Amino acid sequence: MKRFLSALFALMVSMPSLSAAEKSAPKESEAYKFADKLIKKMTLREKIGQLQQFVPKKGVVTGPDGGVENIEESIRQGLVGSFLNIRSTKRMHELQRMAVKESRLGIPLIFGFDIIHGCRIIFPENLAMSCSWDIEAIERSARIAAAETAAIGIHWTFSPMCDISADPRWGRVSEGSGEDPYLGAKISAAMVRGYQGKDLSADNTIAACVKHFAAYGAPQAGRDYHTVDMSRFMLIDRYLPPYRAAVEAGAVTAMSSFNDFEGVPASGNRWLLHDLLRGELGFKGFVVSDWNSVHEMVAHGTAANGKDAARQAMNAHLNMDMVYGDYIKYGEALVEEGEVSEKTINQLCREVLAVKYQLGLFDNPYKYGSQNKSEVIYRAENLQFARELAAKSMVLLSNNGVLPLKEGVKIALVGPLADNAYAQLGAWRGLGEAKRSVTIREGLEARFGKENIFYAKGCDFRKTIEGGIEEALRAADKADVVLLSIGLSHKESGEATSLTDISLPAPQQALLDALKGTGKKIVVLLGTGRALDIRNEVEKADAVLLTWHGGTMEGPAVADLVSGDKNPSGHLSISFPYCVGQLPLHYNMKMTGRPRKSPQHNSKYLSRYTDAPNEPLFPFGYGLSYTEFEYSDLKVVTPNVLMGGTVKVRVKISNTGQCAGEDVVQLYVRDLVAETTRPVRELKGFERVSLAAGESKIVEFKIPTSDLAYCHSDLKVRADSGDFLVWVGADSNAKLQGKFAVR
Ligand code: NOJ
Repeated sequence: MKRFLSALFALMVSMPSLSAAEKSAPKESEAYKFADKLIKKMTLREKIGQLQQFVPKKGVVTGPDGGVENIEESIRQGLVGSFLNIRSTKRMHELQRMAVKESRLGIPLIFGFDIIHGCRIIFPENLAMSCSWDIEAIERSARIAAAETAAIGIHWTFSPMCDISADPRWGRVSEGSGEDPYLGAKISAAMVRGYQGKDLSADNTIAACVKHFAAYGAPQAGRDYHTVDMSRFMLIDRYLPPYRAAVEAGAVTAMSSFNDFEGVPASGNRWLLHDLLRGELGFKGFVVSDWNSVHEMVAHGTAANGKDAARQAMNAHLNMDMVYGDYIKYGEALVEEGEVSEKTINQLCREVLAVKYQLGLFDNPYKYGSQNKSEVIYRAENLQFARELAAKSMVLLSNNGVLPLKEGVKIALVGPLADNAYAQLGAWRGLGEAKRSVTIREGLEARFGKENIFYAKGCDFRKTIEGGIEEALRAADKADVVLLSIGLSHKESGEATSLTDISLPAPQQALLDALKGTGKKIVVLLGTGRALDIRNEVEKADAVLLTWHGGTMEGPAVADLVSGDKNPSGHLSISFPYCVGQLPLHYNMKMTGRPRKSPQHNSKYLSRYTDAPNEPLFPFGYGLSYTEFEYSDLKVVTPNVLMGGTVKVRVKISNTGQCAGEDVVQLYVRDLVAETTRPVRELKGFERVSLAAGESKIVEFKIPTSDLAYCHSDLKVRADSGDFLVWVGADSNAKLQGKFAVR
């Protein structure tokens, strides 16, 4: 019986919810009908043309071989399906006109761009945003980005990045939502909803792209583009949920990753792109390769040449070749030689055409970019929202009482990020403009008065400046407190920025040491797109506020927090390691047979380091506030739950401090005995709660038993009956504990 229930439940878990299917079905089927009709009129060459994406000579180039000659002629011949990285509305409309008016069948182009944390208004980098744990706000940020993007003329963003990563040596952690699959899944789905809205053909929505499929966040030793060696079990259990959630939210495109999986590069990996993505996850849109990743199979050593690479990718169900051109060069010959069937080409092509149809491009190819830009871009309420989201994303890591600052305080503002309009936008800043950034200096001057801010840059990110330290000391001399805005630049965040040393560069450490010598209180404002080893800074500073790369409105957001106008409420979505040697590090590690905290904790033969703790410096979920929150009265309302039912857990949270604040209440579970090894804790619920000073609230979590499903040794995800521990609190070390059983 138990087995039967488990099987039934497994079936239920793998079925898309009816409402989601109902919602998208009519549009999709209409789109496919349209595509099938059109395909009948197309030559083989034209069909392959739809599968080719190029970057124009003057576009943004992020890899070798970007830029193609004679592109206009290719468009006229119907040999280009898409472009990426064009910024100019005028140019997009010109090219669109060529495709629509001058090619035989007039099939519109689809324009893509990396709009990953804002278009013109830049929100904090994605890792930062995820520290807000504010799903509605993140969805809204994507909605705003979509409206601005569509107004510029772009139809498609290469976002959300759904890659789980627990290795901040990898610079691209900045583009994702951290180390946790549950939080990551909520955010990925929210971003898809934000971009695509309810109607993909509306002029303020754009197509989303689930990337990088799959497991791109686990390159060996954090080196970008490096090998991924991961079991299917691990992929399904820990890495898949955010991709799955984005697909279930209706994302109409996906991107294959640069890495290999089980020895086969993702762009030629049929198990990933066909069996898993389409078969198991139910994806119905089209897959674009990453930049040149089809041709890169030659460098991987799994394809003999470009033609072989195109053959493998097409047969793996990869629809569109980004940049290199192997599809258009070799596609026809491959069909003629019987290496790829025309049926396959038809399938690949219909999926591209269907998305173009869903975007409304066949109705009006110029709809995007024809809006009144001034009504959509940089709207005042959206800038205000960006300020709020930036403040919610910042995490107070330590504070000995120096924050919030007192009124009338004189501030020395020092450091390479203090007045850096460009760096604060972070990596992949869409179409963000530094001239619209409000810097920390400007934010503080507006809040505390220009006369109270003494600014000195002090040093560059990785270089000293002649006289820099002296200037900083003079500023400190005039001030009551030093705000030291240090960290990494935007150039050390994002793609191709892997590091082996994640401590702060020496010139910035020297600046901190010199300022420490003045005896003034020091607040470190830490700007970064990744977790860092900040033992030194935490020890020396009176407070550390993690400001990240906060986007267009970073300055006012910092002012809001340091002044106490707002209370910090961000919580880490990635562990801050004690040292680089611990990486990759995440709270949801497995137990092991010899856990560090075992009854024989004095034994040598336990899973631990001999020169460093196992624990991070700051754990997942961590974040301080200017007030105190107390958790009590944990009650498991349903100690025994039937499979298919809902676990209910209540907790009381009280604001016992002096000011209002918000906290992120987090619920973790451990499956005590399972068929495969389970993490020590897994996040299964969270809620942002706002409390006035002295106020208390009861928070109730409702966890469907389907959320307790995990990957079994047969690689099926299902929930089992059994006993669970549950913890609720303000981070992944939450102490209040209860238990429940699923029967
Ligand atoms: C390479 C990156 O890996 C991917 O994330 C991005 O979308 C493409 N380049 C296009 O810019």
